[in-house]
Formats: sequence, C-alpha cells, structure tokens
Amino acid sequence: MKASHQIAFCLLVLLAAGFSATRLSSGKTSATQKQKPAAAQAAPAAQQSQVDRGRYLVEDVAMCGECHTPRDAYGNTDNSQLLQGAAIWIVPVQPNTNWAMRAPALAGLPGFTDAQAETILEKGVGPNGLAIQPPMHIYHMNHADSTAIIAYLRSLSGTYPRE
Ligand code: HEC
Repeated sequence: MKASHQIAFCLLVLLAAGFSATRLSSGKTSATQKQKPAAAQAAPAAQQSQVDRGRYLVEDVAMCGECHTPRDAYGNTDNSQLLQGAAIWIVPVQPNTNWAMRAPALAGLPGFTDAQAETILEKGVGPNGLAIQPPMHIYHMNHADSTAIIAYLRSLSGTYPRE
C-alpha cells in the first residue's frame, strides 16, 4: 500500500470507530430515558413542583414571612417559627383605625378552606366578606400562583422548625 493510501485507510478506520462509539453512547442514553418514571409517578412529582413554586413565591417574591413570621431580639425574622403568626411592627404614616396589629399563622394554613385562601390571595377579600386589613397587601394573584402558595402553606406543619 502506498503511504497516502495507508493514511486514508487509517482515517477511515478512525471515522468508523468514532461513528460506532457515538451510536453506542446514544443507545445508552435512550435506554436510560426509557427507565424514567412512568405516568403513574407523575402526579406526586407535579404536586412537589407546585409546592416548590409556592415556596419560591412565598419566600422569595411576596415575602409573606416579613409580617407572618415572628422576629427575634435583633429584629430578624425567627425562621424556627416560620410563618407561625406575628405581631405587626410596621406603623402607618397617618393614623389608621383599620390597621391590623397581628398577622395570623400561615404554616399549615389553619382555619381557612382552600376557597377562602384563594379569595384572600386573588381578590383581597377575607372570609368575613370584608377587604383584608392593612398592612396586609391586597394581592391580585392569578389562580395558578394562589394554588401553588396554598399547596406550599398546607405542606408546612403548624410546628414548623425547618433546618
Ligand atoms: C406587609 C405585611 C404582610 C405581608 C407581606 C403579608 N401579610 Fe398576610 N396578613 C398581614 C396582616 C396584618 C393580616 C391581618 C389582616 C386581616 O386579618 O385583615 C394578614 C392576614 C392574612 C391572612 C388572613 C386573612 C383573613 O381575612 O383572616 C392570610 C391568609 C394571609 N395574610 C396570607 C398571606 C400570604 C400568603 C402572604 C404572602 C403571599 C401574606 N399574607 C403577606 C400582613 C401581611
């Protein structure tokens, strides 16, 4: 064989080896994909992702704990009592007789049905039919957000300490 033919032959062998290696590894990938959870396991996974989204909205976006979690001696939120209800520390700029002095416990969402909690978060109206008192915000959440938040709050036990 001429030297140039030898080189061409070597290249061909290398190409073929590379090609079959790719086929092998992609074969492996599809085999693993087939082992992924079946539809039967999809429901708890979806529920968990809803709880995770609710946690994100409560803890990182709407910051419910700023008012609903008690504070320690330094004024920081005491996360060993996360969302267990707290005295309100924000004062109105002008006197406001409608100002609430306490934010109720949210961990486990005790005392509220899902429908009541949805009305609070989507319309800003409490179970008594009145507008939520300040300094609680009048939220106008969409239904997906309010149900995710409710799922998260229900997932917390009343005796929360986490971490
Ligand atoms: C700025 C402070 C503040 C923040 C932030 C806040 N709340 Fe409140 N929340 C309050 C106060 C004060 C009350 C009591 C007002 C009332 O009962 O009308 C209250 C009441 C509630 C109630 C009971 C309402 C009723 O009619 O009894 C629920 C449920 C609630 N909050 C959920 C939440 C959730 C969920 C979040 C975050 C998405 C949140 N709150 C954020 C201050 C706050």
